Amino acid sequence: MCGIIGYTGKDNAVPYLLKGLERLEYRGYDSSGIALLKENEILTIKRKGRIRELEKALSPDTSAPCGIGHTRWATHGEPSEINAHPHLSQNGDFALVHNGIIENADTLRLSLEKEGYKFRSDTDTEVICNLLEKSFNGDIISCIADTVSFLEGSFALAIIHKAYPQRIFCIKKESPLLIAPGKNAVFVCSDSIAVKGICEYCYYPEDYDLAEITNGGVRFFSREGLPLAKAPVKIRRDGSESEKSGFDHYMLKEIYEQPGAFRSTVEAYINADTVSFPECNLSSQELREIDRIHIVGCGSAYHAGAYGKYIIEELTNISTTAEIASEFRYGKAPLNEKSLVVIISQSGETADSLAALRAATEKGARTLCIVNVPGSTMSQTADMLIYTKAGTEVAVATTKAYLCQTGVLCLLGLYLAFKTGTAENTELIKRLGEISGLYRDIESELAEDSELLRAAGVLQSAEHIYFIGRHTDYALALEGSLKLKEISYIHCEAYPAGELKHGTISLIEKGTPVIALCLRRDVFQKTLSAIKEVKARGALVIVLTREEFRSCFDKNDIVISLKSCCSDNLSLIPGAVRLQLLSYRTAVKRGCDIDKPRNLAKSVTVE
Ligand code: M6R
Repeated sequence: MCGIIGYTGKDNAVPYLLKGLERLEYRGYDSSGIALLKENEILTIKRKGRIRELEKALSPDTSAPCGIGHTRWATHGEPSEINAHPHLSQNGDFALVHNGIIENADTLRLSLEKEGYKFRSDTDTEVICNLLEKSFNGDIISCIADTVSFLEGSFALAIIHKAYPQRIFCIKKESPLLIAPGKNAVFVCSDSIAVKGICEYCYYPEDYDLAEITNGGVRFFSREGLPLAKAPVKIRRDGSESEKSGFDHYMLKEIYEQPGAFRSTVEAYINADTVSFPECNLSSQELREIDRIHIVGCGSAYHAGAYGKYIIEELTNISTTAEIASEFRYGKAPLNEKSLVVIISQSGETADSLAALRAATEKGARTLCIVNVPGSTMSQTADMLIYTKAGTEVAVATTKAYLCQTGVLCLLGLYLAFKTGTAENTELIKRLGEISGLYRDIESELAEDSELLRAAGVLQSAEHIYFIGRHTDYALALEGSLKLKEISYIHCEAYPAGELKHGTISLIEKGTPVIALCLRRDVFQKTLSAIKEVKARGALVIVLTREEFRSCFDKNDIVISLKSCCSDNLSLIPGAVRLQLLSYRTAVKRGCDIDKPRNLAKSVTVE
């Protein structure tokens, strides 16, 4: 993760760097810093904490025509001013910012230390600075090429050197980086959001392309130092607003944007009485040959996949698994041209998911990405692509992107069934109609009633919370549990309702909150039995269920009911909205930093 921004141009770099860092703060926010290159001097200013701390540390007359900036999510070394980027080489000639992880940093550091190099920080990045210093013999292009040949892992680097005023040098491997020419300036950044409203076009360098940026333009070189021709491409934007628009938090705003986001997503792919995905190009025959589907993602994207598994298997009879990307990539699942690997990602940059995508491609599987960010690395890597139309999601805790992923998975199930003829067309059309109207149900779940607020009041002082459910209610339990723990810092776990009695029930004591998800009619009675079992051990039960089941619960239970009457298979979608609100209200009561929870980042671009 971490955000990188660089500016060289005719104006003062500082405001551009700060604005860029604010926009990139979603990538990490434990510390930040800038290095300014003015004539032949480098000035670095770094602070622990948010970008506002860095802003406070800058005097109003700080100015330079060239600089690099960084917002950090710690990997090597605690969040601190010393470990914050930019880092300097020992002699102070080089300054650089880095996104990624250098896997052989310890070995490199040891050998540099043996040669007498002294390190100031605990970071892997400082190793790169000193390697650069060691390799430098007056030719910076060959020095950078030489340095990166020693590095294992991933990196995106923006480098300045005292002897090269007005120049920034960049190189990347497996970490995102783009170079964007603006008016009288050129920028480098890890995400085009940093230059929104300033640049319309950008270059996407390939791994190991070397770029030299000046205020007059960009030159690219191969690792061998040969000039490379590259053409800029138009930056793809989703056009949505990134302001809070009167909401207290982005998370709440994004929860409220869900009816529109879900509607835009599903309407983009519903074509009369069928589903069409313009960027999926498999024929009916090729789809019929698919014998296994692997849905892969991290965090909430994996949870959307856990839901998709149920939906796709039911409609297609194709054996489908949901897998965590960091596990899948090292697994030995046999993959070939009959395997379809569906990678789900909001950002399209998550390192583990990207690695899983590349591993699937290498093994000959067909790959399909469900991605929210246009132009992201995954969108350029997969065979096939479906965009969710959630718009920019700022809060670290995903809400609208997750919901749109679930909508796309429902459509994908129908698409596969239409194309392969595994279900009656009339049944498929009926289901399609229900999905296209579901945004209304999502809207009706936004009303926060007294039971939801009462539940948040109870949960705010809990130490451990268990979520239980069966089938798609279990997939919802996974997401509900993650949402609550990541923003409230309360320990939460999700279990299949039938699994609790095989061990975890020993943790239930008097007053332990158990959130039971009972949205599916077909397994309602079974989940009810699990509820009785935990109540017999003293659990305090909070139920998310349908209004029609309210009378099945005791007056001591807190019953949050769904307004929607949708079918079992779709009930997760409005149900997710209720759980998002429950998490949000609980975290607000605990005074947590809702949009930027501790230790997290929006986009996890390190393994
Ligand atoms: O950008 P991605 O969808 O690939 O991100 C995957 C996870 O990091 C993400 O869903 C994470 O779990 C969310 N913060 C959960 O709210």
